[in-house]
Amino acid sequence: MIAVTLVAVTLLSMVSATALNKANDHKGHLYFTCPGDNEIITRVRSEHDDGPEDRKWEFGCGNAPSGANLSDCAWSRFTGYFEGPSLYQCHNGGVITGWRAFFKDTDRQNRYRCCKPSKGYLTHSCFYTGYVNDFNEMINYRVPDGHVISGVFSEYSSKDKDRRYVFNVCSLDLSAKTSN
Ligand SMILES: *[C@@H]1O[C@H](CO)[C@@H](O)[C@H](O)[C@H]1NC(C)=O
Repeated sequence: MIAVTLVAVTLLSMVSATALNKANDHKGHLYFTCPGDNEIITRVRSEHDDGPEDRKWEFGCGNAPSGANLSDCAWSRFTGYFEGPSLYQCHNGGVITGWRAFFKDTDRQNRYRCCKPSKGYLTHSCFYTGYVNDFNEMINYRVPDGHVISGVFSEYSSKDKDRRYVFNVCSLDLSAKTSN
């Protein structure tokens, strides 16, 4: 019984380790940056509401994998077009640490903040997640341990008045070539 309780408490503390931060109200401006200098976005949660035809977004952050420091952070321009597809990729092996979005009518246009991992660290083995949500359905995505988000694709449905998302996720660690 004590063992079961300990396991439950441990699991609970692991889950709550990635606290979610509310980033917007319906139709309101969304502006989120991970609070720590070396933190990346590790969780994305979002729910669509048919009333305002908008999503509420929450993000969680964690330290960049393998103790990488981050620097040279910069925001992208608005990506894609309202009610159109949008594809963004951080340049120079950057990783996503912030998310902004501007609401208009029934859609949002997004911007992403990318930072560069410290010298010797490399993003590699990148893959697209596939859609992390269906139109009008919840997003509840957790970046796998040791990984970062380095790009985002989304497309809009005028029928559903919502967007569905794909993340480009990469491993981040010390590159074999430059570490020693
Ligand atoms: C990260 O920054 C800290 C503080 O400046 C430094 O001590 C550490 O060596 C850096 N780590 C890497 C991997 O660059």
